[in-house]
This record gives sequence, structure tokens and C-alpha cells, in this order.
Amino acid sequence: MATVALNLLPESYVELPERELDERITRAKAELGARLVILGHHYQRDEVVKFADYRGDSLRLSQLAASRPEAEFIVFCGVHFMAESADILSADHQTVILPDMNAGCSMADMAELDQVEVCWEELASASEAKVLPITYINSTAAIKAFVGRNGGAVCTSSNARKVMEWALSQAEKGLFIPDEHLGRNTGYRMGIPLDEMVVWDPGMEAGGLAAEETRRARIILWKGHCSVHQRFLPEHVECVRKKFPGIRVIAHPECRWDVCELADEVGSTELIVKRVAESPAGSQWAVGTEIHLVNRLAKEHPDRLVVSLEDCGCLCSTMFRISPQHLCWTLESLLAGQVANRVSVDPETKCWARLALDRMLKIV
Ligand code: 13P
Ligand code: SF4
Repeated sequence: MATVALNLLPESYVELPERELDERITRAKAELGARLVILGHHYQRDEVVKFADYRGDSLRLSQLAASRPEAEFIVFCGVHFMAESADILSADHQTVILPDMNAGCSMADMAELDQVEVCWEELASASEAKVLPITYINSTAAIKAFVGRNGGAVCTSSNARKVMEWALSQAEKGLFIPDEHLGRNTGYRMGIPLDEMVVWDPGMEAGGLAAEETRRARIILWKGHCSVHQRFLPEHVECVRKKFPGIRVIAHPECRWDVCELADEVGSTELIVKRVAESPAGSQWAVGTEIHLVNRLAKEHPDRLVVSLEDCGCLCSTMFRISPQHLCWTLESLLAGQVANRVSVDPETKCWARLALDRMLKIV
């Protein structure tokens, strides 16, 4: 099968009506049969996620990618770092496809390998203490490989606590990359005081920290964030509680620390889905996460009130890039014997990144 370096959706797909797209995707899926598995993240649009064989959070989808060797093609409806993780975890005979190569993640882009290497060297010269690196799965394969090479592990928002406990049971300090909020929320819930978690700013000399601050810290948090989740503010929690007395607030741990502290519950997308599904009819939920998931939960549970924590809604524009047009094009390309938009990690990076991912999968 030829791999084509195509990135642009062919013109002929742009104007296809919804019904025709649905029919063509269904037909291509059926023709590809067991050769294909489609994975869909909870933040995908309904028109796309309805074609997923499996829907889930980052942890579930990476476990699935590692356990479906019978599928020749894994089409990942999510963002680039997820497709990279699937390529790292899947077998050599499998091909991972991201329907639109422009579906990146701004948080993953906030930690570059050379910046992390500088930080690592400076931390080593600032103190004798042993440091273990932990990277959130929302990071590039190069960062995961760095972490694997240096004894650390990957985590997702569902297992960050377990991974951080594992790291701190064998080292005095943890370096948490690239989401400052997930790192702080996790550390705080483990009983680490806020002043023992410092933020390393890669744009500043010595991370912008005094030597004493670095020496005292238990966790060094990378200065990175999710621009979607960071928009939720404490006043949104107060406002929604005034509007709907008795409503339960559930927030994703990529939200700021003060929002998570005010929330009734904090958890990954999978946990949010589970909590709402298990709640009795008449329950009221204000959800602090991406708007497609919130709207889907509201639609799937019409006997419960499910609203976004913030009125105007928060959309992940890169998740949104995966369109039915892109899905149709990549599937029909496979039928025509061409692989469009293959995500492939080089063998050296793959080997170290796999070590960091496997450590995580053993911990959970
Ligand atoms: P989870 O799917 O792990 O909850 O993460 C959400 C997210 O932001 C993915 O980018
Ligand atoms: Fe990245 Fe945030 Fe979008 Fe998740 S929601 S993919 S962290 S930008």
C-alpha cells in the first residue's frame, strides 16, 4: 500500500452533503471490515464520533490501540499526540491515520524537547536530589521519549495521581510536563502544599526560579496549559450555583486549581461521562470541559440537566478539525490502496517513548 504525503482534503470532498458523506463512510467502513478500527475521543463532533468503533478518554484509547493487533489500520479521530501514542503502542504491521494532520494540541506544543533538556540539566546542577520526569500524554513523542530515557512515565488525566505517587516513591522530586494545572491539582490532592510546587517557565533564565525555590520544591511544574480548560474561572462556578441551586459541578483536572477546589468533583472525560450516566433522573450537572462532550451528555440524558460551566461554551478547535469529509477521504483512500495522513514515529523515539507509556500501563 502506498503512503501519500497528502495533507489537504481534495476539493471533491469539500461540498459533499451530509447524507452522502454518511453513506460513503458507512460503505467504506463495511468494505474495510476487520482491517479497520476507528477510535474516537469524547471531544469529537457527533457527526464523526458516531462512526467510532470505540469512544473514550486518552487512557482508554491508548489501551485500545495497544490491544487490537488484528486491525491493519487504526484511524484516530482525536489529535496528533493521541495518534502518535497509538503508533507507539501498536504493532509494527499496523498503520495509524489521523484524518486531518492539522489536528494538533496547543498544550503539547508548549513543551519542546530542547527546552525540557535545558530544564533537566539546570535542575541537576541546582540540587543533588533525585528527580523523575512525568509527562502528561498530551505531549509530543519526543518528550515521551525523553521521559522514558530518564526513568519516568507518561500519565493521563485518569491516572495522574497513581503515576505521581509512583514517581515520588522513588525520587525526591518530580518534574511534571507540560500541564501546570493537572500537575498542581494532582499534587495538592496527594497532600503536597502549594508552596512545594513551583512553576518552571522555559522562557526565563533558571525557569524564573530562585535556587532556594527549586531546592525546596517537591514538584516542578512545567509552565503549560490547555487554552480550553483554562477559560473556566471560579466566578463561573459561583454563577452557575446561583442560577441552578443544588447543581453539582464537575471539572476536568486541566482546569485551574481554584476552579477544581470549588468543584464538587474533578475527573477525566471518562469519569465525567460515568458520573452523569450513573446519576438519577432529575440530577443537575455543570460540566467544566470541552463543549462537544457537554452537549452530547445533555442529549444522551434528557431527564437530567447538563450545562456547560461557562455559558458561551469552550470548544477545542483542533479536535474540531476532524470532519466527516476528512474521515470519508482517508477511508476511501485506503480502499483505493493509498494511505493518506499516516502518523509514524521514528524507531529510536518510539522505543524510548514506548518505555514511558508501558510504565504507565503497568501502574494503572
Ligand atoms: P482525557 O481524555 O484524558 O480526559 O483528556 C482530555 C483532553 O484534554 C485530551 O486532550
Ligand atoms: Fe489539547 Fe486542550 Fe484540545 Fe485537549 S482540549 S486537545 S489539551 S487543546
